[in-house]
Amino acid sequence: MKIQHLEMKNITKRFPGVLANDNVSIGVHSGEVLALLGENGAGKTTLMKILYGLYQPDEGEIWINDLPVTIHSPRDAMRLGIGMVHQHFMLVPTLTVVENVILGLPTGRGPLLYTKEATERLVELSQKYGLKTNPNAYIWQLSVGEQQRVEILKVLYRGAELLILDEPTAVLTPKEVDELFSILEEMVDLGLGIIFISHKLKEIMQISDRVTVLRNGRSIHTLPTADTSEHELAELMVGRDITNEFPRQYQHTEKAILEIASLEVFNDQRLLAIKNLSLQIHAGEIVGLAGVSGNGQRELAEALVHLRDVQSGKILLNGKDVTHTNPAQMIEAGIGYIPEDRLHVGTIPTFSVSENLILKDHAKKPLSKYGFLQLENIKKYTTNLVEEFDIKTPNIQAPAKTLSGGNIQKLVLAREIARQPKFLLANQPTRGLDIGATEFVYRRLIEQRDQGKAILLISEDLDEIFTLSDRVAVIYEGKILGIVPISQAKRESIGLLMAGLSENN
Ligand SMILES: Nc1ncnc2c1ncn2[C@@H]1O[C@H](COP(=O)(O)OP(=O)(O)O)[C@@H](O)[C@H]1O
Ligand SMILES: [Mg+2]
Repeated sequence: MKIQHLEMKNITKRFPGVLANDNVSIGVHSGEVLALLGENGAGKTTLMKILYGLYQPDEGEIWINDLPVTIHSPRDAMRLGIGMVHQHFMLVPTLTVVENVILGLPTGRGPLLYTKEATERLVELSQKYGLKTNPNAYIWQLSVGEQQRVEILKVLYRGAELLILDEPTAVLTPKEVDELFSILEEMVDLGLGIIFISHKLKEIMQISDRVTVLRNGRSIHTLPTADTSEHELAELMVGRDITNEFPRQYQHTEKAILEIASLEVFNDQRLLAIKNLSLQIHAGEIVGLAGVSGNGQRELAEALVHLRDVQSGKILLNGKDVTHTNPAQMIEAGIGYIPEDRLHVGTIPTFSVSENLILKDHAKKPLSKYGFLQLENIKKYTTNLVEEFDIKTPNIQAPAKTLSGGNIQKLVLAREIARQPKFLLANQPTRGLDIGATEFVYRRLIEQRDQGKAILLISEDLDEIFTLSDRVAVIYEGKILGIVPISQAKRESIGLLMAGLSENN
């Protein structure tokens, strides 16, 4: 059977405590790319796992060419011509490309002969769709982009006519994304249908013919890509007006909360990663530290929270010398830390949401009294934070690692902000987050600044630096190459400085 048109009608899927898909309908034709757009947790993967037979819907139907079908397993799905490339690849590293492609298929004849035939078919398929690959290479030898091509070939080899790609670009470099897109265009030209999942608006505008927007488990809207814009899609996805313009109430205060003087810090190879660095951050300002990663940002951040030794120089927090203290004393002195690695440094992944929220305060009143945890108080405290910071979790006992990236970041933010730090260190606070979560983080940081906190924002993202900072500094090879008020900062010169160049050369 050839898939001309596939429809999922009124699909509902419940997990304990979560309505993952709520009466969702989508349709896709052969020869088109349908984009499925939604924030983390919107229900995209669940819907596609239903289509691929990995989950059974609680309600709803799937129709192909105007006939209802039942899909109880991936085997059923593949028999109908539906193939899925998962977000996380499922290849065996110690097998070759061709071995991975035929893995799990009935052989029917001697393995050697079979591999030879399979190789021939694989070469044919890769030529047909422009999917360059070497059938005899081992998976471990391949780049991520190449591995993804093998996953796609595996699905095509099984005769897929409708291809589901779950966030395929998340792991790719920009060049690999371009390559993938030309492959997808080739496939569509040859009559395949594609469901392309993403939360990246630029990509959706570029590759899709139509877009269905999912939000909170519901299909909000479907529209032709040519009739919409990134801005409209962003608002549909998030469900409210999106802004990147925050009021600047910044008033320069003289009070330095954080003072770094002539700081020197080693990297892991015991080379100087931070060289004679001096910086002051005042109450009520955000200083953006722009730079390409690997120029000392990590070492600076770690030195400030005392996860790394200071070789020489001084750090003062609120006038107090904290150069040679320990992490616990830094926390006590009033530092809040939003680390780069939110899952492993920011949280303890196996601990519950609630335990992670009280990680730094569990021994204090009112969470603890006479050495005993006050469970009722803890429950109230953490439930409030979950609500206030809009942390999407089935309950406060769920392990932190089960949350999406955006929600883990909200958890870290909630814990650090609730502690009322005087100085907040935010290292790449929105890397990998979707638009809604990013805007949430921005609002909270601005709010903190307006309450008089001093904030150091370390970011590779120039848009982010320009959106949030009151002053901007550039770090290059462990040194600060100039600090200017944002009103005087030019994007081009900041960009040049990040590359170690100035406008004059
Ligand atoms: N196997 C599961 N068990 C319980 N909850 C789940 C499961 N899979 C997904 N969820 C929940 O369903 C919702 C939708 O998740 P998902 O479909 O993965 O969203 P998306 O792919 O759009 O990020 C989320 O709240 C998620 O936590
Ligand atoms: Mg998903």
